[in-house]
Amino acid sequence: MSSNSQELMEKIVSLCKRRGFIFPGSEIYGGLAGTWDYGPYGVALRNNIKTMWWKFFVDGRTDMYGVDAAILMNQNVWKSSGHVGGFNDPLVEDTKTKKRYRADHLLEEWGHPATGLTVEDMNVKIQSLQKMDPVKYRTSDGNPVGEVRQFNMMFATKAGAADDDSATVYLRPETAQGMFVNFKNILDTFHPKLPFGMAQIGKAFRNEIAPGNFIFRLRELEQMEIEYFVKPDDWRKSFDEFLALQKEFLLALGLSEEKIHQVEIPEADRAHYSKWSVDTEFDFPIGQKELLGIAYRTDFDLSAHATGSNTDLSYFDEETKERYVPHCVEPTFGLDRLMLAVLSSVYDEEDLEGEVRTVLRFNPSVAPIQIAVLPLSKKDELSVPAQKIAKDLKKIARVSYDETQSIGKRYRRQDEIGTPYCVTVDFDTLTDNAVTVRDRDTMKQERVKIEDLEKFLTEKFSA
Ligand code: GAP
Repeated sequence: MSSNSQELMEKIVSLCKRRGFIFPGSEIYGGLAGTWDYGPYGVALRNNIKTMWWKFFVDGRTDMYGVDAAILMNQNVWKSSGHVGGFNDPLVEDTKTKKRYRADHLLEEWGHPATGLTVEDMNVKIQSLQKMDPVKYRTSDGNPVGEVRQFNMMFATKAGAADDDSATVYLRPETAQGMFVNFKNILDTFHPKLPFGMAQIGKAFRNEIAPGNFIFRLRELEQMEIEYFVKPDDWRKSFDEFLALQKEFLLALGLSEEKIHQVEIPEADRAHYSKWSVDTEFDFPIGQKELLGIAYRTDFDLSAHATGSNTDLSYFDEETKERYVPHCVEPTFGLDRLMLAVLSSVYDEEDLEGEVRTVLRFNPSVAPIQIAVLPLSKKDELSVPAQKIAKDLKKIARVSYDETQSIGKRYRRQDEIGTPYCVTVDFDTLTDNAVTVRDRDTMKQERVKIEDLEKFLTEKFSA
């Protein structure tokens, strides 16, 4: 990471903590790697992104069925899905400190990309590099690493009082399986015709070997996923449609097009269930990295669950009078990475008469707060009408009311949380029945009659 990017990441982390977006998980106990807690503005931003996603991909369509499946599932779900056997990352250990590294990440750090390499390939490469140059190819602690081995990333726990293997349950590493195991329920209750999709938003858990880079690589994360079921021959059409929709959604969030890159994934790097995958990468402060993805999962999951559970998961096609197992195209989104993409895109600093003005230039649709109402004085003569204005505006927007500290400090605070409009109630308001509306981006101030305020701001939001 260049020092500028490192600095930007540090500024974002610091602002997120200072302004109540994101705090380190279990902070007062020294933290827990790979976990972060969302504060009031972080929750608001997440909810806005989730609501936009649900409107865009579920409520705005007629072919989607929302579900909210349990996080804990029968252990056989994960045996059938291939996660018990195959949800692994390549692990190496520092031979002295026993610190653990992702073998592919270590190779990349050493300047040898691991794209397309199997675990065996990585092992051969690491051992031969270490032999060739025992000084250069070392961990950051200066030691060699051992053999590369597979590490299963699922968190296992026990359900109930029994302590044997039958009580083992896994925290789901993807929300997807909650949809596959409910496929028959949707068929039996709603009788949808192909193509149709199931959608879910929820937490997933991965015991990442090396969590880090703020909320980029977490052990507890949130996904927004769609399993879209199609006739086997039609997968490509739906794949391309959703790939285009993924980009459209990112643009609607306000991400800039030049930072978005769609990258086909070579076979060796695809997940075990995928026959074709395209990742959407984004220019994060830590470099161009995976933001979200889409995979053609074929009938891999439904067929595996049909066999594993001895349940018929086929579909009867009324048009062709054929019975077959549908194929699946899966657009998947990581909510935390979307948050980081949005936060790093909107972060801006400008010089304001020698002082740095920090602004989050959120698209108003995702801004945690859209309008701040600020009375110039705490006295009742201003706070009472200001509170009434705030209450009225809550009908059209997410509004906060703030009467503490100087107006300058309050403007800075609203800039730092990315509030697009501030409405200031001053002593003139008492005679002219008007307020000052300050635009975050242009910093222009306009006098607007209170009776016209709702219309004025609604037009601004829809502009
Ligand atoms: N159901 C398919 C699936 O889970 P994935 O590529 O493993 O596919 C989907 O994960 C998305 O979840 C990723 O594109 C990323 O946005 C997010 N994600 C995965 N692992 C993550 C982690 N450790 N921390 C944060 N987000 C993660």
